[in-house]
Amino acid sequence: MRPLASVCLAGGLLISTTHIHAAGNPTEGRAVFENLCADCHTITPGKNKRGPALGGVVGRAAGTVKNYRYSEAIAKAGITWTPDRLARYITAPKTDLPGTKMRMLEKPTPQEVEDLIAWLQQNK
Ligand code: HEC
Repeated sequence: MRPLASVCLAGGLLISTTHIHAAGNPTEGRAVFENLCADCHTITPGKNKRGPALGGVVGRAAGTVKNYRYSEAIAKAGITWTPDRLARYITAPKTDLPGTKMRMLEKPTPQEVEDLIAWLQQNK
């Protein structure tokens, strides 16, 4: 009886913690990444394409991937990619950081941005 009860409790805690940290749906976020980002980005550390590798990007200082040549706009931005800061950049890179080399052909919806960030947060 008792082991079963603690398993249930642990499960409940896990679910509620997940909700606090990520409003987005990471499974959906993975699909958004494939559609809107994967032409230019991987999440594999060290594997840069047209844009820098994005594994571990949440919480990282901007412009710090090795062997990637950033624009001055990113290199000198002096920012950290918090979820809020990422959301602004992804939604409108050229207005957010004028001079950035990143161009989004299709603007993601607010829900897509949340899902995407939830997924990126899982890929450290
Ligand atoms: C057409 C190519 C292209 C697409 C599509 C694209 N990016 Fe980028 N991304 C770039 C380039 C190029 C840079 C480097 C920007 C610079 O140096 O100004 C960049 C930089 C970034 C950075 C800064 C990383 C760092 O190390 O500071 C983030 C975060 C980012 N992109 C996220 C995304 C996400 C999320 C998507 C999908 C929603 C996306 N990008 C779609 C080309 C692209």
